[in-house]
Amino acid sequence: MITTKLKIRLYGDACLRKKSVSVKSVGPGERMLIKAMLETMYEHKGIGLAAPQVGINEQILVIDVGDGPFAVINPQIIKRSGSTKMEEGCLSIPGVVVNIKRPQKIIVQYLDEHNKEVKHEYEDLLARAILHEADHLKGKLIVDYAGILQKKKLKQQLKELEENRK
Ligand code: NI
Repeated sequence: MITTKLKIRLYGDACLRKKSVSVKSVGPGERMLIKAMLETMYEHKGIGLAAPQVGINEQILVIDVGDGPFAVINPQIIKRSGSTKMEEGCLSIPGVVVNIKRPQKIIVQYLDEHNKEVKHEYEDLLARAILHEADHLKGKLIVDYAGILQKKKLKQQLKELEENRK
């Protein structure tokens, strides 16, 4: 299912909480989707976007933290090391930031847009962006990382986001 114009799904949309299925083979259809996802991501000034955020529950992500775009399909984090904390936002939850502790360095195994298996090490912002987007594939969102106090504070804001979505 490809549309030229993709719509970002917002908090409260069921597809953001679904687990995404793995892609059997990356072909022309997936490459078209990747291209459209990148356009949508740039349009919204994001540094990463996961397919469930455009209503497609498949394990596809696009990333560009400023040094060039790439696609990550069926990601598996095979090693994590170090730890850093940073505030993260999400295009699906406008206006909300959560301070999240994540590994500083990861090794990821995935398929690239040419269906080639890749194993690569990423660190800092790239690692963070991949981990954030990979969370989307499991139906996990930044608000899930909030502490009890912040969750309390976010409650009303999230309720409004959910209501405005309808
Ligand atoms: Ni996000």
